[in-house]
Amino acid sequence: MKKVLVTGGLGFIGSHTVVELQQRGFEVVIIDDLSNSSINVLDGITAITGKAPLFEKIDLKEKTDVEAFFEKHGDIMGVIHFAASKAVGESVEKPLLYYENNLNTLIYMLKSVLKLDVSNFIFSSSCTVYGQADTMPITESAPIKPAESPYGNTKQIGEEIIRDTCRAYSHLNTIALRYFNPIGAHASAKIGELPIGVPQNLVPFITQTAAKLRKELSVFGNDYPTPDGTCIRDYIHVVDLAKAHVVALERLLDGKNVSNFEIFNLGTGKGSSVLEAIQAFERVSGKSLPYKFAPRREGDVIQAYADTTKANEVLGWKASLTLDDAMDSAWKWERKIRNIG
Ligand code: UD1
Repeated sequence: MKKVLVTGGLGFIGSHTVVELQQRGFEVVIIDDLSNSSINVLDGITAITGKAPLFEKIDLKEKTDVEAFFEKHGDIMGVIHFAASKAVGESVEKPLLYYENNLNTLIYMLKSVLKLDVSNFIFSSSCTVYGQADTMPITESAPIKPAESPYGNTKQIGEEIIRDTCRAYSHLNTIALRYFNPIGAHASAKIGELPIGVPQNLVPFITQTAAKLRKELSVFGNDYPTPDGTCIRDYIHVVDLAKAHVVALERLLDGKNVSNFEIFNLGTGKGSSVLEAIQAFERVSGKSLPYKFAPRREGDVIQAYADTTKANEVLGWKASLTLDDAMDSAWKWERKIRNIG
């Protein structure tokens, strides 16, 4: 069995990817520091796949611990690096924490990966690197705009670090995946998103409002130059996203990559407005969602949705689940964790 390291493997996207990897026959080792995840996620993964992944609680900022880990696991064939801090607002308040967490750890990982017999590396990037793109849908060659936040900057700099490292070391093979807006949960409702505190992202806020943990949703801005005045995003089901990681890893393992640093957008290619997202939730849940219009949120772009041609044709992956599927699974998950029948 091919052994794969998944850092941040107990997080939202990481855990769903571990499930898909195990179901494809990979042996998975998870590193997670549990700073923004729960150890119980391991049980969810095990319940779905019938197999417990290996798990090591390591803080990737501890360079010597990272080195010791790789000495023990020299047979790793690929690394999928999710571990990172991701709260945009927090990154503005604590920039150094974000640069340390997201960049130091990336550097230590790359150094270790370079020493392996097989140096395959997949990086979690984000559509945030495009800022407000001038044309829709957004292709991978759209210009990178100045980052709106330290978090966004860590993704841009992260890609640059990887690009430079790939130039210097031809045996390093990497893929950066630029996610649009990941939402939803596993259909089994055994794993899903676990936001800490008040959710900043739309879908967990919607499901928590429907579960009566929040009074109402504030729709940030209804005067944008879009058909219904609310912002447009490309909401991608987390299970589709997880499958893309397996496809990307297999591309590297099979030596099918055409350069040693490839970039793919991961989205559905379809833009949905905030009001359309609410309507999708109401449709699948049969519940009416209390919401009000509120001022625009600082830093929000008007619209962002992916041109998925490269992912479809070169990577050979296509999102297959719909916004309704994602909302349905997110609501099922919320009901499960809140014990709502
Ligand atoms: C956000 C981050 C982005 C990050 C991504 C990770 C910001 C500005 N951007 O993307 O960098 O990569 O999460 O998932 O934080 N909305 C409401 N009410 C709410 C919450 C959201 O109307 O209570 C709206 C937003 O204005 C936006 C849409 O819903 O139009 C999606 O918001 P969100 O889920 O936070 O994602 P992004 O802002 O696109």
